[in-house]
Amino acid sequence: MDERELIMDHWKRKITGIQWEPQIDYKLIFCEALKSLADQKYSLLDIGTGTGRVIFENGLDKLYRKVVGVDIRPEMIEICREKSRGMKNAEFHVMDSTKQTGFQAGSFDVVSAMFPPFDAKEMYRLLNRGGYFILLSSLKGDHKEVVSRFPDMDQVAAGKYSFGTVKSLNTALRNAGFKIVLSNIMRYLWLFRDEEVLKQFYEKITFTKVFDGREQRLAGLTRNIDGRIPVTRFLCTTIARKA
Ligand SMILES: C[S@@+](CC[C@H](N)C(=O)[O-])C[C@H]1O[C@@H](n2cnc3c(N)ncnc32)[C@H](O)[C@@H]1O
Repeated sequence: MDERELIMDHWKRKITGIQWEPQIDYKLIFCEALKSLADQKYSLLDIGTGTGRVIFENGLDKLYRKVVGVDIRPEMIEICREKSRGMKNAEFHVMDSTKQTGFQAGSFDVVSAMFPPFDAKEMYRLLNRGGYFILLSSLKGDHKEVVSRFPDMDQVAAGKYSFGTVKSLNTALRNAGFKIVLSNIMRYLWLFRDEEVLKQFYEKITFTKVFDGREQRLAGLTRNIDGRIPVTRFLCTTIARKA
């Protein structure tokens, strides 16, 4: 092994599976908004709740009078029901947040959405007057290195809805009647040690075997000098109010 190989080999052993630059918590503003706007009188709906991360990791059941989580995938709702066993003010339902839900108009004071697709008019209908819609969304350009090789990836990651721009997102919200209170854009990089880590990670976050049989396309991804594969993240935290 020559010096170059020795140095690179040494360095590579220091690289963990996935890192990001800068080291930011992309969900910080979203979570803090949910906590700072909480009230013991308020009810919260978390759409596309997945494993209930938004509710459970932030202890929202203790900050709100009632918390409700919905997701289109029954297995996610099963996990949430299991996690919420014994909680008196939490309920979880299988529901499609892109369609008219079964809830009555004005059922909630806050609606949260971390990455799921939604129907803006339905979110408006579900909120009480003065209520907040708090969302964290992928923007056009998010995952761009992977999406360029797997064009169906943005649909998978966005739940069959392509990522939009801040303008299109805000227009959809305004057209539904919302007033935009805050719009915070974040751009950062994910750095994957190798293709295998990248593949496993995407399959985990999309719940899909999106690369199946097409793994060779991953070989064309650009690499940093140390061999890590950079993937752009481009997100927006939005807080909209039902005026
Ligand atoms: C990227 S995951 C985020 C999960 C969770 N909010 C979190 O951040 O941990 C997106 C979630 O939205 C759900 N989802 C996708 N399309 C949906 C739809 N039309 N209605 C409701 N949920 C949906 C998926 O099943 C998945 O759990």
